[in-house]
Amino acid sequence: MDRIVVQGNGPLSGEIAISGAKNACLALMPATLLSEEPLTLTNAPRLSDIRTMTTLLESLGAEISTMQDGKVLAMSSHAAENHVADYDIVRKMRASNLVLGPLLARHGHAVVSLPGGCAIGARPMDIHIDALEQMGAEIELRDGYLHATTKGGLKGAEIPLRFASVGATENIVMAATLAKGTTVLSNAAREPEIVDLVECLRRMGAQIEGEGTDTITIQGVDRLSGATHPVVADRIETGTFMLAPAIAGGEVELIGGRINLLGAFCEKLDACEIDVTETEKGLRVKRRNGRVGAVDVVTEIFPGFPTDLQAQMMALLCTADGVSVLEEKIFENRFMHAPELIRMGAQIDVQGGIATVTGVERLRGAPVMATDLRASVSLILAALAAEGETVINRVYHLDRGYERVEEKLGAVGAKIERVSDND
Ligand code: EPZ
Repeated sequence: MDRIVVQGNGPLSGEIAISGAKNACLALMPATLLSEEPLTLTNAPRLSDIRTMTTLLESLGAEISTMQDGKVLAMSSHAAENHVADYDIVRKMRASNLVLGPLLARHGHAVVSLPGGCAIGARPMDIHIDALEQMGAEIELRDGYLHATTKGGLKGAEIPLRFASVGATENIVMAATLAKGTTVLSNAAREPEIVDLVECLRRMGAQIEGEGTDTITIQGVDRLSGATHPVVADRIETGTFMLAPAIAGGEVELIGGRINLLGAFCEKLDACEIDVTETEKGLRVKRRNGRVGAVDVVTEIFPGFPTDLQAQMMALLCTADGVSVLEEKIFENRFMHAPELIRMGAQIDVQGGIATVTGVERLRGAPVMATDLRASVSLILAALAAEGETVINRVYHLDRGYERVEEKLGAVGAKIERVSDND
């Protein structure tokens, strides 16, 4: 298993290119099932999660060729006849559940393994299931699989979501593009990845309005055509790397970063005295003064503070001047990075969904364990500012969501290297 070794090495300087968004690409790829014509994605990120989704779609009969070193995914599912998404693939990645809506829309039936829980929570699918049932699907849980059928195809419906679930919004929007009649999805999620999915579906001929608001209206059509679509920039990667100069000092420009994708995150950075400046190529980030200020953070649905940046923000606040309180309201178990940060000298008290962080002058390098995707990168951020050497184990978590992280951070002056066990 690979591990990442980081030496605290002072201020950073230079440019980091932001890749296409993992969470947009994982929703865009299943859209190929909605059309018999080719769907090509450009600016795709090179990540293990994308390879997992590729394997899943190929198991369903899609043909996917990757070009330009993986940045272009040319997909065709004209021959995709298999409607069973197997547990062995689905258990690796929760986003596999995003084939449920497209399979139902395309074939009128689907058998999709429940993804099962993961480190950060139980992650049920009740919101997806309730919504599809309101569109006429009959869904039964048997042997760990959701068996979904429709008699006569999906029908448009008025669907109020009990919670603005990102995945449920994406599944329903995709399913509704080919349903008979109009679907009005209220309390819909507003994340930029959903806006990107709708822009792609519209290129394919879908009739959709309201993306980015809490009410999305989809007028079903008989068929969708192919399209070529660029994956939107990854706002979570952007936010993650914005914290690198914040925690280590110096000044870094994030090429392709877009402030309008970062909602409340940028407001929080301003509150803890980090300057963010829009440039022609993206965003430039540096500390305003010597040390960052303490701030309180509550994770919310978009445009609130993203839960996917909570672990990274905690790493920064471990070195802030004062006490910060972080409340995680989206997932029930997303503080597993805290004990690892404490090994590095951080002062964190976790009580349920609330973590109280008392900033220290300097963290100290230590061997630590990555537990999930965003926790692993928060440990790297902490290591940039720590005294001495930090070894982050189990970096397979990292490779799910960050493309070549050691190259990107190394290019701006971090002393970071990947070590393989067979090295
Ligand atoms: C997406 O997951 C993202 N993944 C997650 O990013 C992100 O943290 C999450 O949205 C919230 O923003 C992808 O886009 C691939 P949800 P998703 O449905 O769709 C509960 C990362 O690090 N819920 O909005 O699964 C659920 O348990 C990942 O890149 C139900 O109770 O998130 C959770 O507590 C992690 N029933 C909350 O809602 C349901 O049917 C948010 O889930 C569905 C969800």
